[in-house]
Amino acid sequence: MAPDISKIRKDFPILDQKVNGKPLIYFDNAATTQRPIQVIERVDEFSLRINANIHRATHFMANKTTEAFEASRETVRQFINAAEAVEVIFTSGTTESINLVAYSFGEAFISAGDEVIVTEMEHHANIVPWQMMCERHSAVLKVMPFADNGELHIDLLDNLITDKTRILAVAHVSNTLGTVNPIGEIIAKAHLKNIPVLIDGAQGAPHFKIDVQALDCDFYVFSGHKIYGPTGIGALYGKRKWLDQMPPFLGGGEMIDSVTFAKTTYNQLPYKFEAGTPNYVGAIGFAAAIEYIQNHDRQSLIDYEHDLIMTATAKLKQIVGLKIYGDAPIKAGVICFNIDGIHPFDLGTLLDQLGIAVRTGRLCADPVMDHYGVENMVRASFAFYNTFDEIEAFYKALIRLKAMF
Ligand SMILES: Cc1ncc(COP(=O)(O)O)c(C=O)c1O
Repeated sequence: MAPDISKIRKDFPILDQKVNGKPLIYFDNAATTQRPIQVIERVDEFSLRINANIHRATHFMANKTTEAFEASRETVRQFINAAEAVEVIFTSGTTESINLVAYSFGEAFISAGDEVIVTEMEHHANIVPWQMMCERHSAVLKVMPFADNGELHIDLLDNLITDKTRILAVAHVSNTLGTVNPIGEIIAKAHLKNIPVLIDGAQGAPHFKIDVQALDCDFYVFSGHKIYGPTGIGALYGKRKWLDQMPPFLGGGEMIDSVTFAKTTYNQLPYKFEAGTPNYVGAIGFAAAIEYIQNHDRQSLIDYEHDLIMTATAKLKQIVGLKIYGDAPIKAGVICFNIDGIHPFDLGTLLDQLGIAVRTGRLCADPVMDHYGVENMVRASFAFYNTFDEIEAFYKALIRLKAMF
């Protein structure tokens, strides 16, 4: 059944406002999504009435926050179908999750001359931590390129993988090209050589049902603020067999079993990777966002988002001089483009004057800019609360602005 978008929009009060005198059209969802009232109220409830640090005291509020925090872990576990809740580590977001894996996996498994594979379309968050890890261990970073249409050259994977490959990291969905990568196929190929795979799900989790056991990925990472939750919270899923062998990332309270000056021993999973006071209010809001999504027919939301991006793509393709970057057969979430003769920043600023929020810039993906030989792009990105009317208004605005140049 088609989702009732006007009813859904009522849950997102922020959408009901004017910007520069025009109704807000929010097309910057790949950067961050808006939060439904259910998430805002849940977070408020814990800030207003039930705030206490978790896992420490025995008083009423501390018990409530501890219970809610661990229940949130269980909600995330169910959302991605992890085998065990201890395989879900709360982090500040995708960036921290990847840094954690790059550091701790590197400490345990990477030696001089070993190789790590990423792809040319990664967000900087899935490049730089691996570069830092390679630098620390004198390892080599190898890059799987993509074709001009935005599809990965996975035919090259067999040549990229060698006896020295130790881990492969790839985006589920590209934040610039919108490509939905064939992660199942990539994981299967890597596993033939016993190579673990990290999936950067920052743009995947918002648009697809995730089943980490069916995917058989070794790590899956994503951010709360990109799936209608608060900022500063995210998740790292890791198979227990890897997490158990990896040393802690940060040291401090909570992650220890016992501390003496002679020797410190570490806590069990997941706490070994959650040093210090975690963002428990964020985790509770994150779970509320997941519950919000789950309370709808998820498949109908996914289908609706697909229709939105297909409609927007078809419309934009009608504009002469507009070039879309990435035309893979399966795309989700984002459309990046430029219009001949208009600087992307001018376009972004003028669209804002019309109440339309898009992202402009290098989109934390310098290698993608280099691939196409451009400095910047404009990105429109969609969520299930966007409408076909908004896409029509966006199309008309682009036609109007183009005529001004
Ligand atoms: C594909 C991808 N990976 C990683 C990130 C980093 O996410 P965060 O800033 O929430 O850590 C983003 C954010 O835009 C992204 O799109």
